[in-house]
This record gives sequence, C-alpha cells and structure tokens, in this order.
Amino acid sequence: MSMTEVRDAMRPVSVAKVTPQTLLQSKQASTPITALTAYDYPTARLVDEAGIDLLLVGDSLGMAVLGYDNTLSVTMDEMLHHARAVRRGTQRAMLVVDMPFGSYQVSVEDTLRNALRLVKEAGSEAVKLEGGAAQASRVRALTDAEIPVVGHIGLTPQSLHRMGGYSVQGRSETAAEQLREDALELERAGAVALVLEGIPRELAAQITGLLTIPTIGIGAGPDCDGQILVFHDVFSLSFTKQAKFVRPFGDARQLMQNGLAQFREAVAARTFPDDAESYHMPSGITLAGVPLTEEDVAAMSAKAATVCK
Ligand code: KIV
Repeated sequence: MSMTEVRDAMRPVSVAKVTPQTLLQSKQASTPITALTAYDYPTARLVDEAGIDLLLVGDSLGMAVLGYDNTLSVTMDEMLHHARAVRRGTQRAMLVVDMPFGSYQVSVEDTLRNALRLVKEAGSEAVKLEGGAAQASRVRALTDAEIPVVGHIGLTPQSLHRMGGYSVQGRSETAAEQLREDALELERAGAVALVLEGIPRELAAQITGLLTIPTIGIGAGPDCDGQILVFHDVFSLSFTKQAKFVRPFGDARQLMQNGLAQFREAVAARTFPDDAESYHMPSGITLAGVPLTEEDVAAMSAKAATVCK
C-alpha cells in the first residue's frame, strides 16, 4: 500500500458532524453505524480521526482504566473527568456519556440534574442509561429537556447483582418478549438509539426490525444497525477475561510490552539517551571545572577568525 492509499484509508468517510439524525439516516440507508468507547484525549483523537461515528465514554472505564471489579462504583465525578478529556479530542463523532450507577436510579429530578451536568460540564451530546420500560419516564424527561438519550437493554452491567453475573439475556420466549417491549417503550419515550448487549442474534435482529431508531449491538450479532466495542478490548489492552464477541483488531499490549522492555534495556545499558538526544552548552561557554572539548576549541578559533577579518 502506498502512503497515499494508507492516508486515504485513514480518512473519515465523511467530515460532517454526526448527530442523532445522522444515526437515523444511517439506519434508513442500511449504512452500518460504527461506535467505540474512549476514556481519554489520545484515544478520543484516534477514534474520531479514524471516522468512527459514535464515541462512548462508557462506565466500563471503571474496569478498563480505573482497575475496578465492575461498573457499580463509578461516580459522576469520574465520568465527568474522563468525559471532559474525551470532549477535547472529539470533533466529528457523536459524543455519548454513560450515566453511572446511582446517578439516575433515585428520581427523575436526580436523573435530570446529573444528565445536565454531563452536557454542561463535559460537553456530552447525548447520555446513555441502562434499563427498559422501567426507565421510560426518565428517558421522556431527558428528551423533554432536550438531552438525547441512548438506551441500553439486554445484558446491562449495572444490573450485575440482579442478574447474578454477566450472562446472555433474552433466551426464553418470556424474556425475549420483555426485551421487545422494553425496546418499544424506550423508542416511544424518545430514545434516539438503543444499545443491545449480550442477547441472541435472532432476537437482536427482530428488535432491530421492530424499531425506527437504530440499534447498536455488542454481543448481539451482526444484524444490528451498528456495532460497538470497548477500545481496550479491541487493542488487547484489557486485563479481564474476554467475552466471545470481542475481536481484537490490533495488539497494542504486545507493542507496548516490546517497547517497555527495549526502554528498560537501553537505560540499563546507558545507550539511552545518546549524544544526539542530549542538549549541549552553547559553544564557547565553559562550565567551571569542565575541560574544553576539541569541538569547542575549533568553534572558538573559527569565531575569532571571523571577528578579526
Ligand atoms: O460502558 C460501556 O462501555 C458500554 C458499552 C459496552 C456499550 O456500555
């Protein structure tokens, strides 16, 4: 591949800002929606410049970058801190920020107050919250307050204790019927898109066909309107056991491990930094007690010769 071809492949498909309307048009045109998580400025820039449509500051940051066991202890302050960094690195993609556990379960007022903080203090363009029909009143209130909402049903990690672990949802006809109803309720409440996580492919396809709004799948098969993955999973940077739907698209872990070993060896062997990587005193300025080098003497004589001309 030539450099031009590489640059063309890297160029975003379109430079137009992605909005909820763009996502809807993508569904209508059967153009797959691409989405990834990002938790900091450099990854946001990389993801945005690669032309990914939707960038999610997921509460998965609790595990991916903060080392928590699950998403339950992630706070509003942590979400705001990471979302602000991602905001600074995002131009084209639609920026969605997760509402962390506890920020919307108490009341509609609380939900509004916390979502407004994500918009006003972190520049979020939409918020995502987990749960089905039970969350419809919150989704409606946020939508009425001009805050676009992305719903999230199926395997909802914040329901860890109710689910008794992370397991595929919607596998019985009753559970599937509940998820279809949840999806329709969220759409009626004004959600602009729906994440479908950890449900059978057949059910995800059915829900996608039932809805006008786009579905974005993670562990929900290929028939959703779009796909999302966790950035750290995609580049082999996660330290947790990976689900079967995770496909690594690059091995940043290996790259970093090699680089780290080389850095350590170079410092230990005193081959880093070398002279070209060092600053020098201006020629002619000597440090007390440090003898002049041959280069210094040559430079001083050359300078003197020019002055005496
Ligand atoms: O928190 C997260 O990263 C998510 C995605 C996996 C959808 O909710």
